Amino acid sequence: MIMVTGANGQLASLTLQALAERETPAVGGSRTPADGQRPLDFDHPASLDLTGVSTLVLVSAGYAEDDRVLARHRAVVDAALRDGVAHVVYTSLTASGDHLGFALAHRGTERMIRASGLGWTILRNGLYAELFGALLAWTPDGLESAFGQGALSAVARADLAAAAAVVAGDPASHAGRTYELVGEPVTASDIAERLTVTHRTIGLGAYRARLLADDTLLPFQPPMLASIATSVRHGLLGDTGPDLARLLGRPLTDPLTVAADAAAATRPGGR
Ligand SMILES: NC(=O)c1ccc[n+]([C@@H]2O[C@H](COP(=O)([O-])OP(=O)(O)OC[C@H]3O[C@@H](n4cnc5c(N)ncnc54)[C@H](OP(=O)(O)O)[C@@H]3O)[C@@H](O)[C@H]2O)c1
Repeated sequence: MIMVTGANGQLASLTLQALAERETPAVGGSRTPADGQRPLDFDHPASLDLTGVSTLVLVSAGYAEDDRVLARHRAVVDAALRDGVAHVVYTSLTASGDHLGFALAHRGTERMIRASGLGWTILRNGLYAELFGALLAWTPDGLESAFGQGALSAVARADLAAAAAVVAGDPASHAGRTYELVGEPVTASDIAERLTVTHRTIGLGAYRARLLADDTLLPFQPPMLASIATSVRHGLLGDTGPDLARLLGRPLTDPLTVAADAAAATRPGGR
């Protein structure tokens, strides 16, 4: 049986959808399980139950400090070993993201999985096109960001989910492989042009000050978001590669359209 973790999250639910479309039976695991799903909370190791699972799609449980994220992933890898899981498919971060604030937890998890003795495939996901669009701020004049003219090789979340479903459906063919699943280069100006508005660049200092003043953010988030901004701005996240289209057997979903839709969705007063 295939199990996909974080089933109520966006990537996991799209992965379960992609598996269903391929008529590959799979179950979701979640902290808040819906009908037919299993309870699964990495923060409660004693409660983890992976019996009957042969392939585990481990969707990274980020959005926390590295020690917490790594403890979550350690707990699920230990449970996988104990309960006889054969293969783990881990959704990681693309190699060019090594400069990002959340890279260490991904690289630590990759090492943990490779050393575990479990079968494994690492899906090194690029940054979501949806995230890129949503990180642009609206002003009365148009869009604003600290991304400058830097290009991000953005990727539609649904394409990453489809790739995870391909791998989970035939893990033996992908055992011991690390795939770089990135999209196509998109700039903030491309998104603005698509939405027929202007894009204004602000400095990284002004952006960081804005993040630090935002009391809705958790302490780890300002440095994480600032690291995305400087990496995109300075061209460190623009690498492309063939792995994703090869896995999917089709061209990628246009990331510019996805990013522009995400930016439009946050526009005050609608599109
Ligand atoms: N590539 C990118 O651009 C990018 C951007 C942001 C994040 N990420 C990473 O990719 C992951 C998936 O992205 P997403 O867009 O699907 O995020 P999402 O919609 O926020 O989903 C994340 C899921 O992680 C699961 N989770 C959180 N804490 C958990 C815990 N203690 N035990 C088990 N599961 C837990 C949750 O599943 P349940 O609610 O079902 O328990 C949650 O729904 C994120 O968690 C993050 O690590 C990647």
